[in-house]
Amino acid sequence: MQNASSDPKKPACGCCGAESSGPSRRGFLAKTAAVVFGAVALAGPVAVGLFSFLSPLRRTKQAGTFCRVATLDALPADGTPRKFPVIADRTDAWTLYKNVPVGSVFLRLVAPGQVQALSVICPHAGCFVGFDAAAGDFVCPCHAARFDLDGRRTDKDSKSPRDMDALAGVEIRGTEIWVHYEKFRTGIAEKVVQS
Ligand code: FES
Repeated sequence: MQNASSDPKKPACGCCGAESSGPSRRGFLAKTAAVVFGAVALAGPVAVGLFSFLSPLRRTKQAGTFCRVATLDALPADGTPRKFPVIADRTDAWTLYKNVPVGSVFLRLVAPGQVQALSVICPHAGCFVGFDAAAGDFVCPCHAARFDLDGRRTDKDSKSPRDMDALAGVEIRGTEIWVHYEKFRTGIAEKVVQS
């Protein structure tokens, strides 16, 4: 009886008798396809992870910055607070803005050479607190929360969940006042640096 395959080393197809490429070749193709599909499937998540890690858009936590805010002779000797802008570099995504206003602080001379710095941002909902010179305290224009000169809430039904945020980093460098400027989350009782 004649063999359907012309090459005795190659097995013939069971139905038509054509020469088959053999199981080793099929196995090789299957493995190659699996590797390619696996690599493609992994590429997406890896790329997304790398982008998230490297992208400035994801770098939302900004370290506070020491900024020169004022000089000692700009503060009233009687302890009246004065509001000053904070000028620093600001980064939005990939764009760096040099020396732009990033916030404001109230500075107050509490003793010779000793300065208190309070954030102007109301801890309730982020409005800008003002100084009421006639009453001698701070007041928020949005929901009327009031604070004494040290930033403590004075109304028992205050809308503000905490006292005004004092900036811990205040340094006197010669005659200059430098402040470690940070922003804090609003609407919560804890003082948490904004990330
Ligand atoms: Fe200041 Fe509401 S935002 S009291």
